[in-house]
Amino acid sequence: MIRDKGCGELRESDIGKSMTLCGWVFRRRDHGGLIFIDLRDRSGILQIVFSPDVSGDAHKLAHELRSEYVISVAGEVRRRPEGTENPNLPTGLVEMYANKLDMLNESAVLPFSIEDADTSENLRLKYRYLDLRRPEMQRNLIIRHKVTKVIRDYLDEKDFIEIETPMLTKSTPEGARDYLVPSRLNPGQFYALPQSPQIFKQILMVSGFEKYFQIVKCFRDEDLRADRQPEFTQVDLEMSFVDRKDVIETIEDMMKMVFKDVLDIKLETPFERLSFKESMERFGNDKPDMRFGMELKEMADLAEKGSFKVFLDAIKSGGRVKAINGKGMAGLSRKEIDTLTAEAISYGAKGLAWIKVKNGFESPITKFFPEEILRQMAHRLEAEEGDLMLFVADKGKIVHDVLSRIRLELGKRLNLIKPGYKFVWITDFPLLEWNDEEERFDVMHHPFTSPMDEDIEKLLSLNISEHHTPDSELSRIKAKAYDIVLNGYEIGGGSIRIHRRDVQRKMFEILRISEKDAKVKFGFLLDALEYGAPPHGGIALGLDRFVMIMVGASSIRDVIAFPKTQKASCLMSGTPSTVEPKQLRELYIKLNLPEV
Ligand code: AMO
Ligand code: AMP
Repeated sequence: MIRDKGCGELRESDIGKSMTLCGWVFRRRDHGGLIFIDLRDRSGILQIVFSPDVSGDAHKLAHELRSEYVISVAGEVRRRPEGTENPNLPTGLVEMYANKLDMLNESAVLPFSIEDADTSENLRLKYRYLDLRRPEMQRNLIIRHKVTKVIRDYLDEKDFIEIETPMLTKSTPEGARDYLVPSRLNPGQFYALPQSPQIFKQILMVSGFEKYFQIVKCFRDEDLRADRQPEFTQVDLEMSFVDRKDVIETIEDMMKMVFKDVLDIKLETPFERLSFKESMERFGNDKPDMRFGMELKEMADLAEKGSFKVFLDAIKSGGRVKAINGKGMAGLSRKEIDTLTAEAISYGAKGLAWIKVKNGFESPITKFFPEEILRQMAHRLEAEEGDLMLFVADKGKIVHDVLSRIRLELGKRLNLIKPGYKFVWITDFPLLEWNDEEERFDVMHHPFTSPMDEDIEKLLSLNISEHHTPDSELSRIKAKAYDIVLNGYEIGGGSIRIHRRDVQRKMFEILRISEKDAKVKFGFLLDALEYGAPPHGGIALGLDRFVMIMVGASSIRDVIAFPKTQKASCLMSGTPSTVEPKQLRELYIKLNLPEV
């Protein structure tokens, strides 16, 4: 070691000691006779003082230091003079007086300042090695490391075994587009990168491992957002001889340990649980941010007693009317309300009806309602003087989608979201979801998810071809699936699986996947289920997402060392890129690019 300690580790107890430190020049200030350097390494920052009285040579050389030069300094640790302490730095009580300076490396002029948090993200991604020098990014990745360490320790303690599964494999059932890899040895054939280890982990249960986990990369070629990357990491686990309760309790216990050991935060368990239906009714989506209220309220029964055609028409055609309370928003101008309406329209609504609670009720639509009904509306929304009631009338799906988004938007704007971590489990999902375009059912989770026990016999006895309609029996069957949501993000999902061949066959029949297609796609799992598959279930957590929330970042890119852009490219390495014609020939691939 050419250094004695980390810069950020020095404390009062080091005063009087002589030592050598290494690091990067973070800031340099010339104060007449003295030169001050903030020296940075992974452990933190320390102020170094170069004085001609201590070492003329070191002081002279210090004039040449520029941002991000790599240096080694030897010197004596002293207490900072009174009045010059820096309470914002852990090392703020001390400084080092340098008697020796070695230049280990120079640095080219930086494309951006390491300190500047406002640098454009594209520049940060291109020079990711510099961006990663920022203390905030180092902290994020160190926390990520600690999280995975605690998870591994926890699961090991609970007898889970970490087993790797293949990256060059077959399509898995998560339903996004696959990343494909051509096979040179098998011309015309392709591997798919796994969207998850789903099938392999189920097979490991058939093999008798009983408790499996893996911290694993997954690949999905889908539209990217702040919380989605084409390659991301799952904490994936699967257990035999369990029911929902066991998986849920395992995760709660694990989260408790992660938050305690990494952030020193004590989580209360059990986490709240909401059925899918309740979550939709109260929050309009299945990943509610539970840190604030502003819940959606039913208004159809009251709307029916008025004569506002928009509401009446929606109800007549089987739709819904619901509302939220914009707390203290009655002061909004017409123009501001128009902007909010435009927002609702951009989310898919036809409009946004509003009523101000202001010296009575104020709105172009009050004339359609008896005063008593307006009062009941306000009562239901707990709207008081100064509040703004906001209504959407439409198909249920649109009402929920639009109001859930307006709720979140206003929650942020009105500063209603309390800091902290609010977990919630969403359970009792419908097994199936009607696909209007293709006029058939899709699975909500994946096709290996078990229906509830009480629904299994019913399902097996149904003549499926008679039930291919949006609101048939099939739409009411519930799944043994669960999602875990943290602060409005889905951070994980899983289910108890189907372990019976006859139930699995029925599922494929419902999904209109032919026996032949099922064999081609998932044949090896179906075969495995024939040989004494134990009841089993599991879950996968999106590691990037929950570390993002733990560190308070707004994008998962900030907790991934080398993430990709919205267009799935890496600006640092220049990936993806073209390849040599020879490589394509070896793979028997001919490009057929669109004209540009
Ligand atoms: P699911 O598809 O719900 O389940 O994925 C599990 C969790 O992974 C995270 N996630 C993502 N994170 C970042 N970028 C993405 N593109 C992305 N896609 C998903 C989410 C999600 O909750 N095999 C099943 C699990 C099981 O049934 O056990 C599965 O993959 O946080
Ligand atoms: P209009 O009858 O189109 O003049 O609309 C009167 C008010 O109702 C306006 O504030 C519209 O934004 C609102 N509105 C129109 N359609 C809907 C709808 N489907 N749901 C809620 N409000 C609506």
